[in-house]
Amino acid sequence: MSTAKKDYKRITVKSLVEMKANQEKISMLTAYDYTMAKIVDSAGVDVILVGDSASNVMAGHETTLPITLDQMIYHASSVIRAVERALVVVDLPFGSYQSDPKEALRSAIRIMKESGGHAVKLEGGKEIKESIKRILHAGIPVMGHLGLTPQSIYKFGTYTVRAKEEAEAQKLKEDALLLEKIGCFAIVLEKVPAKLAKEVADSLTIPVIGIGAGNGVDGQVLVTHDMVGMTHEFHPRFLRRYLDLYTEMTNAFQQYVTDVKAIDFPNEQEQY
Ligand code: KIV
Repeated sequence: MSTAKKDYKRITVKSLVEMKANQEKISMLTAYDYTMAKIVDSAGVDVILVGDSASNVMAGHETTLPITLDQMIYHASSVIRAVERALVVVDLPFGSYQSDPKEALRSAIRIMKESGGHAVKLEGGKEIKESIKRILHAGIPVMGHLGLTPQSIYKFGTYTVRAKEEAEAQKLKEDALLLEKIGCFAIVLEKVPAKLAKEVADSLTIPVIGIGAGNGVDGQVLVTHDMVGMTHEFHPRFLRRYLDLYTEMTNAFQQYVTDVKAIDFPNEQEQY
């Protein structure tokens, strides 16, 4: 098996499966707007997720439930305009696919047609099997999402680690196999024990991308605003902060206020 890193000009769903076969880990980050997507894509991140976490990060909601299909399309179309290399996956928001497969297909088609996204992501396993099949039959690639599925937060009652008990772990393994069998090209596994996540990844040929799922999976995803430290009240164990932009930006804004008040900005060179 080759472990050489291939230089992908454009990432497709096929590239991701190939990366897993070549034991190359997959990098994935979120973006919800043009400017952030441009930076994330230029940095060489393989997959950009237009996550429904936009509901929390961009709109300040407590959960992902309120974001609408129209709002997801707006975010995704802004991201698409920036991206040259990454695969862009767009979350189907809560309420846009759970009632029946026809509604799920209509929502997925709207995302693909109106935003130009490359694939959709849905939360759940067996319960939404028919919806996923319907979307796949229309030629739309689907990424699954198992483990902690934030759209079901009111069922779980807490954002704690999932599948610690045998029964839930067993269902998760069955769901993962089912998602691969029906044709999903990848699965996000959120907040589950690392040992279980590795077992799932090892049992599949499609990539498993983890968040809070250890390093035995095929790739990692983080919410960009968390990993650059723009959000600062969220401290889960799995989050590595690469920057402290909250502090950096606060310092810059405070300096700006000082400069404006002191008539130090603009100076001679900064005016016409
Ligand atoms: O919406 C999102 O950002 C996600 C990631 C946490 C995987 O689904």
